Amino acid sequence: MQNSVQDRAIAPGLIWLNRIVGDRLPEKVQDRAACLWLFSGIFWMIIGMSLGMISAIKMIYPGFLGGVYELTFGRLRPAHVNTVLFGWLTMSSVGSSLVIVPRLTKRHLYLGELAVFAGWGFNAITAASIVTLALGLTKGKEYQEWILPLNTGVLICINLVAACLLVTVLERRDERIYVSIWYFILAYAALDIVYFVGNLPIYAGSQDAAINWFYAHNLLGMWLTACSIGTLYYVVPKLLRKKLFSHALSLWSFWLFAAFYVWNGGHHLVYGPVPMVIPMLGIIFALGMTLPVGGTFVNMIGTLWGRFRDVGSNVPLRFAILALLNYFLASYEGSMEAIALININAHFGDFPVAHAHLGFLGFATSSMTAFIYLFVERGLKRPLTPLLTSLHFWLFSLGFLLYVVPLHLAGFMEAARWSTLDNQHVGDMVGALVGRSPYYWLRVLSGLPLVGGQLIFAWNLIWAFQSPPTGELDALEAEWSPHATEVVSLAREELR
Ligand code: HEM
Repeated sequence: MQNSVQDRAIAPGLIWLNRIVGDRLPEKVQDRAACLWLFSGIFWMIIGMSLGMISAIKMIYPGFLGGVYELTFGRLRPAHVNTVLFGWLTMSSVGSSLVIVPRLTKRHLYLGELAVFAGWGFNAITAASIVTLALGLTKGKEYQEWILPLNTGVLICINLVAACLLVTVLERRDERIYVSIWYFILAYAALDIVYFVGNLPIYAGSQDAAINWFYAHNLLGMWLTACSIGTLYYVVPKLLRKKLFSHALSLWSFWLFAAFYVWNGGHHLVYGPVPMVIPMLGIIFALGMTLPVGGTFVNMIGTLWGRFRDVGSNVPLRFAILALLNYFLASYEGSMEAIALININAHFGDFPVAHAHLGFLGFATSSMTAFIYLFVERGLKRPLTPLLTSLHFWLFSLGFLLYVVPLHLAGFMEAARWSTLDNQHVGDMVGALVGRSPYYWLRVLSGLPLVGGQLIFAWNLIWAFQSPPTGELDALEAEWSPHATEVVSLAREELR
């Protein structure tokens, strides 16, 4: 396939990506942009997970890999966390919005070349972040370790894509807006505000702590979670070729989500050095989150109702269901963890790490995986290898369980031992620290199926592009778009 002159001028790197997939990138600029963001995301996921695995080994053997400063735990941990959150989940979320928004609005992406340009910019930023963190250049605050020049680059890239998407939505052919688009609008707007405010270098003391958690929780909630739910609302009806159970319920859940989530950051500061009103608000709104989460869960189960037998033959659907279950579990666990009496024991051990992986490995990673399979197989008409897809699912599930179950148990064990601490006694502190070892070993072990599964995922996609499309691409557009609209119009009928 020939690259257009325009593509060559704006993003020579597309030619390189094209070679990896056997010179078979889709013709349309919007799908090329989506492929760039999605496939780069998978690349960073494999790097990020490997960094996580090395960090996990270092939590048992700090001397692993020698005394090289660049490879110490303090530098590898933020490199792991930021690479998976930005390199993988942010890039795949942008990729999914680049596919979903044009299809639901029945418009081509406005100035798709800008999204391609931004995709390469974001790749350069992610690569630079790993180098700068290894060199010890960091802001030193959780989830915002990247230095200011990289923060500026992130804002430029995200805003370029946001501008393309916004104009596409404004020029839409359907006057009503499907719920996935609402989630993307919220997510991009929130990321812009939160990332700008959170990374300003002007705070100090307890004000800094409050802003840090306003930023961090909303980065995870209003950006990554909103993108993943928006994606699931598209993926599940598409995979089932069935209308959404209730459009009204999806909007009800969306507005509650938008109203409640933004106040949740304070629940990270229960017993922290901030005015009591901040954690109190955090706890109240964390409990409030059970409503939108419950609404989304019921809506998805309603959509799946009567079709559970499809799970056996449809691996992307399995990933979508895994994502949904973990969204429910992680959100309800988070609401409970916010309650002060539970928080005092749960907060200071491995529980938050287990919770983070339940959410971002079990939920967000699974929903993006379901989407990528759907896009490649149905959107780009590239045939996947069923054996590899299924193997990926089982390796991922095994690795995921090996990670989150032992680490939750470690959290309970620590909580039991922390509870013996008081002002006079150090309690069973040493016992708690030493007792973590078997759980930490299982976490190291979990990395093997997790990283192995993702390598199979990447290979399956590269292989899919080597095969001829299973249908005409133009016909595909015709097939895809009306179905996407059908999701909206069927939902509309329901509202009447
Ligand atoms: C896409 C997959 C992954 C995502 C999204 C992810 C996300 C995260 C996040 C958000 C944190 C910070 C948790 C906190 O501060 O409470 C974290 C920490 C960590 N992750 Fe991952 N992770 C992933 C995969 C992995 C894998 C495969 C391993 C290793 C087998 C791993 C090992 C670790 C370790 C060792 C830490 C530091 C824990 C600590 O400091 O106590 N992660 N990860």
